Amino acid sequence: MTQPKKLFIKTYGCQMNVYDSERMAEALGPSGYVEVGSPEEADMILLNTCHIREKAAEKVYSELGRFKGLKAEKPDLKIGVAGCVAQAEGAEIMRRQPMVDLVVGPQSYHRLPEMEARAGAEKVIDTDFPEEDKFEKLKTRPKAKRGPTAFLTVQEGCDKFCAFCVVPYTRGAEVSRPVDRVLTEAQDLVERGVREITLLGQNVNAYHGAGPDGRDWTLARLIRELAEIDDLARIRFTTSHPNDMDDDLIAAHGDCAKLMPYLHLPVQSGSDKILKRMNRSHDRDSYLRLIDRIRAARPDILLSGDFIVGFPEETDEDFRDTLRLIEEVNYGQAFSFKYSTRPGTPAAERPQVPEDVKSDRLQELQALITRQQRAVQDAMVGHEVGVLIERPGRMAGQMVGKSDHLHAVHVQCDLAPGSLARVRIVESGPNSLAGELI
Ligand code: SAH
Ligand code: SF4
Ligand code: F3S
Repeated sequence: MTQPKKLFIKTYGCQMNVYDSERMAEALGPSGYVEVGSPEEADMILLNTCHIREKAAEKVYSELGRFKGLKAEKPDLKIGVAGCVAQAEGAEIMRRQPMVDLVVGPQSYHRLPEMEARAGAEKVIDTDFPEEDKFEKLKTRPKAKRGPTAFLTVQEGCDKFCAFCVVPYTRGAEVSRPVDRVLTEAQDLVERGVREITLLGQNVNAYHGAGPDGRDWTLARLIRELAEIDDLARIRFTTSHPNDMDDDLIAAHGDCAKLMPYLHLPVQSGSDKILKRMNRSHDRDSYLRLIDRIRAARPDILLSGDFIVGFPEETDEDFRDTLRLIEEVNYGQAFSFKYSTRPGTPAAERPQVPEDVKSDRLQELQALITRQQRAVQDAMVGHEVGVLIERPGRMAGQMVGKSDHLHAVHVQCDLAPGSLARVRIVESGPNSLAGELI
């Protein structure tokens, strides 16, 4: 019997990359690869990269630098770069790091087996946006058992062109997968033990996949259909754009029991001037009114957001507007970043905010968010929540899972991963809650 070859994949960036890494590992299965946990044992190393901020992109080169020794010891070792840096920089990666054998963009993963076969003997690169559907070509999934939660990409790419963002360039135009493919994949995941599916897309709520009735389905309709799968207990989706929150999707948060009360709805800034310059096409007021409507449909929903500080020409007053918006919304979770200039995006050409100002603003914003987050979490104490048990905790007899609101919860119990428990929250710690089985 031939020895299996060993594949090490390291994933950076968003959940879509996590999903893609799983699919790349599966695609390379028929070429004889099994996944391993360290680069030292690998016959092939794949870095699945992110280009969203400068730091993310630079990490790839420092990581590649660390593989120099490995490649010297093991000349047959194949090194590949996938993901958004691959798309954005293409052959430049091989110029900067000649030991890279293969560069594959996010829309070409289905061509990986054939690329892998050629890599080593020659440099292989594919950063096309091919006509054929990569998901369709990747559809054969092995029937292996899986953990209780999974990602499922239903939409890719973006047509919104926010002035700071590389995604429309690295992931291409917005495309939705057909409904039947999504349903088949969800069914398959559930048969393999998955109880919670998070639907993914850069603009997932703009989903408009072709339905079996010949019409385009909205995300709300897709969610309602997925909710019919008996053993699927929970549905989530991310990331959404405020302009694509339609009435039915808002309503689903109120009437679809399997849709969890958590919504990631980035606003980026609370200043109308900055929102306009960001090309966000919504303003502060329309965002706040939208939040009111969502809360009317589902009062206990936990809201999450993304914020950029120090966007070109952001004044102190603009920044105060963002803090005021945060006060008004009361987020249960948020991600915040210093604006990072990205080559080729419109905002890169504009007058920049000094680095130390960005740092001060980020610190102030994060302190506010941390207080809110903690207060929202603390307020769960005494409440009864659903928890999907995921794995054993650090303490004996303890299991960890996620609440409906996506808080990590520790519970003393002997329930198996994949069990749904009713839990009363008794304590709120720095990063998680503790609860008791009801
Ligand atoms: N599609 C999602 C977000 C994709 S990127 C959406 O529209 O919300 C994730 C987050 O990274 C963004 O929400 C934004 O806050 C941040 N981001 C994107 N480009 C950035 C840049 N150039 N500098 C700093 N943060 C950025
Ligand atoms: Fe980037 Fe804006 Fe598209 Fe989100 S909506 S991926 S921030 S361009
Ligand atoms: Fe990064 Fe690409 Fe996702 S740039 S955030 S990995 S879409």
